[in-house]
Amino acid sequence: MALYSEKVMDHFRNPRNVGVIENADGVGEVGNAKCGDIMKMYLKIKDEVIEDVKFETFGCGSAIASSSMATEMIKGKPVAEAMKLTNKAVAEALDGLPDYKMHCSVLAEEAIKAALKDYYDKNGIAYDESAFPDCESCGHCQI
Ligand code: FES
Repeated sequence: MALYSEKVMDHFRNPRNVGVIENADGVGEVGNAKCGDIMKMYLKIKDEVIEDVKFETFGCGSAIASSSMATEMIKGKPVAEAMKLTNKAVAEALDGLPDYKMHCSVLAEEAIKAALKDYYDKNGIAYDESAFPDCESCGHCQI
């Protein structure tokens, strides 16, 4: 069996939603201290709906494929739904990732959550802190 699914290869070769959104309503940047990969997400939000999303990823093919798939999964969706996106759902939508590459999909989930948190903070919207695990305590997403 090939190491990477067709979908991973497709999203790696032709990533969707690459770029920057000027004046984004939410921006999130996360990194994995171990592999050194960095992901940045930009959200345009109107009436609690994600109108547009773009990303920049400096990292491995799985990280690029994961960010691309994750942006497709939240585009046009309500903010509350985007909050529920898990790295598992991203990996499943890609028809799987090798075990040792699962952390790449974690980066995509964290980048989206960081951008949503930024949106909440900028707009003074109250949120459940427990939905955003403290980075310092997990050590996973330190840049
Ligand atoms: Fe670091 Fe993929 S190897 S995110």
